[in-house]
Amino acid sequence: MRLILIGAPGVGKGTQGALLAESHGLARVATGDILREAVRQETELGREARAYMDEGELVPDELILELIAAELAEEADGFVLDGFPRNIQQAKGLDGILDDLGLDLECVVVLEAPDDVLVKRISGRRSCARCGAIYNAHFDPPTVAGVCDRCGAALVHREDDREEVVRNRLRVFRRETEPLIQYYHDSDLPVEVVDGDRPVDQVQATIRSALAPA
Ligand code: AP5
Repeated sequence: MRLILIGAPGVGKGTQGALLAESHGLARVATGDILREAVRQETELGREARAYMDEGELVPDELILELIAAELAEEADGFVLDGFPRNIQQAKGLDGILDDLGLDLECVVVLEAPDDVLVKRISGRRSCARCGAIYNAHFDPPTVAGVCDRCGAALVHREDDREEVVRNRLRVFRRETEPLIQYYHDSDLPVEVVDGDRPVDQVQATIRSALAPA
């Protein structure tokens, strides 16, 4: 299965993508995670991406398409794309990459939630810098505050989760990514719009039943 998860910052793409990847044996390809790791390791990509991420702006399309082409070449068996594509240019680039690999997309899942919910989720988010597990101080706290249940590493508040950066990320989503949703509605691909403003397991159940063969 090869699908795309689209939605605003904080809507639950990472949370749902990780569950789907586990249940369906898919690779989760999350551009935000790949970029954060590149920043942490101070690679050339990380150095180029950092200023954009700190401002909540999109990293240039050519850098993203290069990294996606490399990732997808390894994941022909199935993947869930989380946070990519993010604009129509990237979607067209993805079509070219998949054509070259002889692969097709099967579904687009759009997650939705109101802005006040997104802002509250982001303000409470804590992530494990080592294993990538995601927690939430309001909705899904770790057993011991600040410590990852899974691997015991310290939990961090993302640099770009500061309030002014979150506001810009939401603006960028409206400007760049919302038109992409219409682009996919106008395509031949099935698009499933899912209410993300419900408990995690209910959202996951809706996505799974949408993906199940009729
Ligand atoms: P990225 O990391 O992709 O960030 P984002 O799209 O802003 O999404 P988030 O990671 O903030 O949220 P999410 O939807 O994954 O929610 P989560 O599951 O964590 O990108 C970061 C930056 O990298 C971008 O700003 C850009 O600079 C750059 N970038 C990335 N991709 C790019 C691309 N393709 N092109 C150019 N630049 C790119 O959940 C949020 C919180 O809510 C968590 O605490 C979670 O526990 C909680 N939660 C989740 N679901 C629920 C629920 N149902 N109920 C209650 N709480 C919930």
